[in-house]
Amino acid sequence: MKKCSVIIGSLRKNSNSLAVGKAVEQFLYETGEFEVSFPDIGNLPLFSEDLEGSPPETWVNFRAEIASSDCHLFITPEYNRGYPACIKNALDIGSRPNGKSVWGGKPSAVIGVSPGKIGAALGVAQLKQVLSFLNIPLLMQPECYIQADNSFTDGKVGDGGTRDFIKLFTTKYVEFVNR
Ligand SMILES: Cc1cc2nc3c(=O)[nH]c(=O)nc-3n(C[C@H](O)[C@H](O)[C@H](O)COP(=O)(O)O)c2cc1C
Repeated sequence: MKKCSVIIGSLRKNSNSLAVGKAVEQFLYETGEFEVSFPDIGNLPLFSEDLEGSPPETWVNFRAEIASSDCHLFITPEYNRGYPACIKNALDIGSRPNGKSVWGGKPSAVIGVSPGKIGAALGVAQLKQVLSFLNIPLLMQPECYIQADNSFTDGKVGDGGTRDFIKLFTTKYVEFVNR
């Protein structure tokens, strides 16, 4: 069984990104090969080098959760044509102490989610740049930009083309991780 941590770049309860994450969780579960967790990145104190000597418990637990994962998935909205601060904070915390990053070498993929027509493409591009510096192997194709349309209701992605594409993407992600 492989452990997949899904990092959601939105902290709101009815997040479309979380809805996509739940759909991916179901498809991964159906393979019988993965267990999925959604690490809590909303309660990590903002990174400061002053805290490194005696790191907050939430940082310690988060680093342990990421270190014990076999693969990751980042699902992000776009904030002001970039990716949200909560993801950057989590990446910075996981990258330290210097030389002890928990990120490197774990296969990962990025999904962008937005009600806008370009599906968070610029936020995704910015995030991929930072992930490559952190030595995270990324699924490059297919790219996955989801337009959160009216098939999203009650925190779920309804049946239809968007859900079908998330399923296809999940299949490609599983192939990538297994390779
Ligand atoms: C501070 C802020 C900035 C935003 N900037 C963008 C943007 O640059 N591009 C975009 O497509 N949507 C933008 N949006 C709209 C978000 O895509 C939308 O709120 C989305 O539903 C957030 O994702 P979530 O549903 O997972 O919470 C912005 C929203 C907020 C709150």
